[in-house]
Amino acid sequence: MASHRVRITDLKARKRRGEKIAMLTAYDATMAALLERAGVDTLLVGDSVGMTVLGHDSTIPVTLDVMVHHTAAVCRGTQAALVIADMPFLTYQVGPAKALRNAGRLVQEGGAAAVKLEGGRAIVDVVQRLVDVGIPVMGHLGLLPQSVHQMGGYGKRGKTPDEIAHLQADAEALQAAGAFAVVLEMIPGDLAARITRQLDIPTIGIGAGPDCDGQILVSHDMLGLFDRFVPSFVKPYADLAGTIVDATRAYVDDVRAGRFPLASSPAANAETR
Ligand code: KIV
Repeated sequence: MASHRVRITDLKARKRRGEKIAMLTAYDATMAALLERAGVDTLLVGDSVGMTVLGHDSTIPVTLDVMVHHTAAVCRGTQAALVIADMPFLTYQVGPAKALRNAGRLVQEGGAAAVKLEGGRAIVDVVQRLVDVGIPVMGHLGLLPQSVHQMGGYGKRGKTPDEIAHLQADAEALQAAGAFAVVLEMIPGDLAARITRQLDIPTIGIGAGPDCDGQILVSHDMLGLFDRFVPSFVKPYADLAGTIVDATRAYVDDVRAGRFPLASSPAANAETR
């Protein structure tokens, strides 16, 4: 076990040394502890919690209270991973002063070491303010799930020369405002590689090819736990949905058939957990 949590300076050092950064989302203490045990560097308490855990159709209904609640759980479950919390929809687009109060809750009540914000030049004043007062900020460019209605869906970004130029300028602006890293979601691999070379800060890719400084996936996608919709770039490393359904079916069958609990088993006689 590391003697301290991974720090944002460790991520920058990783980029300098050419070592890839492994990042996943986490939403609760138990899962976060398991992901950390497996060696993940950084855990993002993503507002994807709205879809993977809370049953919403998008990240837009996720509130600051929800993010504080889940961030605190992830922090309680971990000792070594750097925990970054997403700022949900309309908690930072409303100006630097309100953004500061809201980011402050994720750090102070949730225990996050840093926050992540979606957008580029439109929010650099906010990024700069948070960084100035000591709250590290991760940027997020490309597909921006909180802007799904504006963007007209969850498709790939950075396909036209105009979009490419905008993305490169946004990445530069985030770095200049003091962001310590930037997520690149659903953009062509060659563009992600170019932005990665262009920036001193690490890029973390999701559906953005192999040349970013690190990768992130939604853990529920990677583990095969959320099977309602799986993006094409996800590599499923497990089928937890299948495992849970099979195990639960076996339990239901045992209960109905009177095979569980057996009169002689500890389950029949135990008084407490
Ligand atoms: O909310 C989230 O899970 C994210 C990742 C997809 C990067 O922002």
